[in-house]
Amino acid sequence: MHDVDFEQYPDEHCKKAPELLKEIDASGEMIHAICSHGYGICVDIKPEHDMEKILFAVDELTGLIWAAAKMRESKSTKDMEVSSLKKKFKDKKFAAGCSRDVIRQGAEFLGWELDTLFEKTILAMRESEDKIEEEMKSLN
Ligand SMILES: [Fe+2]
Repeated sequence: MHDVDFEQYPDEHCKKAPELLKEIDASGEMIHAICSHGYGICVDIKPEHDMEKILFAVDELTGLIWAAAKMRESKSTKDMEVSSLKKKFKDKKFAAGCSRDVIRQGAEFLGWELDTLFEKTILAMRESEDKIEEEMKSLN
């Protein structure tokens, strides 16, 4: 949902979203939550609520984690350790499109150490990995 405007308006990401969301009577809170994930990237709407801070922090991080998971023999987050993710995070050439600055800023917004953000995000992805895979298969 947070990338509601991205496919149709990639150059106006998070800027076109309010208009689209108003069409479905989304609340002001919902619009703020969605648009604030582009803070400092494409809009100046700051994440305020904890959920918004988490969305901001994990949007880039889940991309990095998934890229790292695909490099593993298991092709999974299930056996991924924080230490291994930290190495990928430090390697600027790895998944270069995933902004380390945004991830760092996200952890800062939450008041969490990077390790804590990494651990919680790996665990959350691990928990939903099978379900997502199943749903993706059903779409094909
Ligand atoms: Fe986005």
